[in-house]
Amino acid sequence: MTIQIPRGTQDILPGEVEKWQWIEETAKKICRLYQYQEIRTPIFEQTELFQRGVGDTTDIVQKEMYSFQDRGGRDLTLRPEGTASIARSFTENKMFGSPNQPVKLYYLGPMFRYERPQSGRYRQFVQFGVEALGSMDPAIDAEVIALAMELYRNLGLKRLKLVLNSLGDRESRISHRNALIQHFQPRINEFCSDCQARLEKNPLRILDCKKDRDHELMGTAPSILNFLNEESTEYFQRVQQYLASMNIEFVVDPTLVRGLDYYNHTAFEIMSEAEGFGAITTLCGGGRYNGLVKEMGGPDTPGIGFALSIERLIQALEAESVSLDNDRTIDAYIIALGEKAKDYSVSLLEDLRREGFSVERDYMDRKLKAQFKAAERLGAHYAVIIGDDELTSGVVAIKNLATGEQQEVPVKKIQEVLSN
Ligand code: HAM
Repeated sequence: MTIQIPRGTQDILPGEVEKWQWIEETAKKICRLYQYQEIRTPIFEQTELFQRGVGDTTDIVQKEMYSFQDRGGRDLTLRPEGTASIARSFTENKMFGSPNQPVKLYYLGPMFRYERPQSGRYRQFVQFGVEALGSMDPAIDAEVIALAMELYRNLGLKRLKLVLNSLGDRESRISHRNALIQHFQPRINEFCSDCQARLEKNPLRILDCKKDRDHELMGTAPSILNFLNEESTEYFQRVQQYLASMNIEFVVDPTLVRGLDYYNHTAFEIMSEAEGFGAITTLCGGGRYNGLVKEMGGPDTPGIGFALSIERLIQALEAESVSLDNDRTIDAYIIALGEKAKDYSVSLLEDLRREGFSVERDYMDRKLKAQFKAAERLGAHYAVIIGDDELTSGVVAIKNLATGEQQEVPVKKIQEVLSN
């Protein structure tokens, strides 16, 4: 039996990978403009990090983690997301002591969740995310959201919807929590066993349940916005004002709760409204997590960020028919005819590459015509044709493959012609 790729993963082959590179480069460029610096953390972490960070009652921790014991008996997990690792690293590396506050970071790399694979949902996917730690200024919330929108705009996406909510501070959440318990308690036996367990531990999670989504109590559940205290309300209003001042459109949706436990205050998602995008329309999700660093054993530090997957971004680009203009042409293809010419082409190829030209030659012992075909397939601008006889007289033929024009050129002048 042949071995196949694991379910929920994909190979990204040449031809497709250029899209990824383009997106990654654009993301890095935008981070430079907004002054976020790259951080790289391990692909696996102690399992406890996610249990404490993401939350015991979340689907991610309960059902979706790739956890294992290593040979030393340590409990480890392939990271399902990046924020908990950033909070750990921020604490461990004492970044709170840096004079540059807030600490603004970005990351790009694979995450792992044991989910049911479908369009836009993978078991290994690549997230690009940013995190700003150390500031409780609503302007940084707005900046983080603006950065995500600007990345999508730069890549050519237009059909986007930004959805915003506030989950309030601790005090607001406690009163909301109590209201939720009262609301669901009388009929909790009509809900799934997960929700029954969530009622006392974390009733907000019920609102995020995929199984009980259509239960009538879901639609009538008390809205967090009615439980925000004055401070939380004002914070949320200022975030909205700043977004409006940047001409970023949004809608407020009080049912947006997010699937991870660390959030408070601002929560947001960006959806694709492109036709034919598929069932899962969320491209990007994020929010504020003021207690997370403390939970990791660090000083009480506020934070906000988001993550988006490249897989869903590419899907949105396809749904909006955005094509990247992908220059895969090369400067020249060397066609060598005869043994001496072939030998010579080895060093010529290397010389040209050292000078910064993208060049290729034949390694398959092709006939002349087939070599021209290969040059065409690679989109070569020029063919450099070397024969044994020409070599003795120190000239080669250079053919412009677009115009068909051909000229005899002294070997020493090849670079000059290619430069034009
Ligand atoms: P999340 O909502 O779990 O948040 O994931 C963020 C984004 O990752 C989603 O909007 C989606 O684009 C992508 N994503 C999630 N699961 C999959 C999957 N199975 N296949 C493909 N794409 C997926 C977080 O991960 C938080 N750490 C975001 C954050 C950062 N909050 C604050 N800072």
